[in-house]
Amino acid sequence: MAEKLAIHGGSKAVTRRSPEFSTWPIVTEEDEQAVLEVLHARSMSGTDITFELEKEYAQWEGSEFALACNNGTSAIHCAMYGLGIGRGDEVISPTWTFWATHTQLLNLGATPVFCDIEPDTLCADPEDVERRITDRTSAVIVVHIGGYAANMDAFMDISERHGIPVLEDYSHSHASTWKGRKVGSIAQVGAASIMSGKPLATGEGGMMNTNDRDIYERAIMFGHGDHVKFVQNEEYKRLGGPPWGGYKYRMHQMTSAMARVQLRHYDEYRAPGVRNMERFFGKVCSVPGVGCNYALNDPDVTTGASYWQMLILDEEVIGRVPNAVIAQAIRAEGAGASAGGYFCHHLHPFWNECDVYGDGKPARIAFSRDVRQGPGDCPVAESIVKHLIQVPRMIQPDDEYVDQLADAYVKVLSNLDQLEGMTSDEVLERARTLGL
Ligand SMILES: Cc1ncc(COP(=O)(O)O)c(C=O)c1O
Repeated sequence: MAEKLAIHGGSKAVTRRSPEFSTWPIVTEEDEQAVLEVLHARSMSGTDITFELEKEYAQWEGSEFALACNNGTSAIHCAMYGLGIGRGDEVISPTWTFWATHTQLLNLGATPVFCDIEPDTLCADPEDVERRITDRTSAVIVVHIGGYAANMDAFMDISERHGIPVLEDYSHSHASTWKGRKVGSIAQVGAASIMSGKPLATGEGGMMNTNDRDIYERAIMFGHGDHVKFVQNEEYKRLGGPPWGGYKYRMHQMTSAMARVQLRHYDEYRAPGVRNMERFFGKVCSVPGVGCNYALNDPDVTTGASYWQMLILDEEVIGRVPNAVIAQAIRAEGAGASAGGYFCHHLHPFWNECDVYGDGKPARIAFSRDVRQGPGDCPVAESIVKHLIQVPRMIQPDDEYVDQLADAYVKVLSNLDQLEGMTSDEVLERARTLGL
């Protein structure tokens, strides 16, 4: 017999709370101690702890060089400069990502050409990327979205055949792997945020890593005056003094100190989340028409930690009931759920209209041909938000609670007939009336 949804007066699937379940990052006395030591030593603006972190991080990530930055945005900026991206260059980057994946291109005089994403991984679509390569393309940016590794075989093949480097933004995906290799360490350069919500979580912070000494040294010259002692290129050293970009991107040592602690415990902290996701998605994705961006059955990918995992609903499901209504009904069952995700950059007025630097035309085309893109250019990304439901972050071990969350999702997704014809406002109103 069909179960009555909570929204219609049935009993809620989630009957208890688990207050710490989604709390991230895990902060212990060890973090406090490490941060206090920096304060007491008055070394917040120093570099000794940061240099130690860089050595440990490089080893952990599987790269020769690591450069600690004050956030992920600056780490990506350093990586772009390290790759030699400059005036008039076009860089292919996914339209569906956080702005810091590519907005820094504008102050290098370069511009993004936005590419579409894959409907099942939510990462850049390699075929669409290749279609957009021209003789002006100087790099490709891939983002490993929500812990899912982009298809790095395809991207490195494109890189080799066209002689174009790849930058991996792995801000969502520390320790995720593609064919056994950590994402971020596969292409010419990787960069990631380690701000406090991210899988590797500290304060504000970012890491750039590479095996290429010249990329590393250019990145240092750009915004890390305090790292010039690591530079071997004599000409770079001669021209050093002011950082070439005019930026000061050094990591705050309270971040470095906490990052060292978090790194030491990373595998232990992320493990329960991975087990929870396996359990949760294993149950929820057994409902017909329901997929996810957790690597459940992909032999090439492992997901590093719980961060930004989504259900991906088939056309058939959202044709019956919009994702916002489904999410609302799941919330009424007592489980977290939210519909949607990023906006598409190629359609945003900022990219098509904003004259950031007073060049008399939109910054995006100040130094390039007119690369602006309109509706229909990235069809998968343009429709993806209708298909997505963001699920709760699953940090702490609590099988019973995971099962209750999964039950809430399965209950709603298996009883869509009870929601057909409703709007999300109506569901919200009902939930309010019932005190859910
Ligand atoms: C995909 C992606 N890239 C880059 C960034 C930028 O990192 P930060 O916020 O540390 O500057 C973020 C983070 O928020 C992100 O999600």
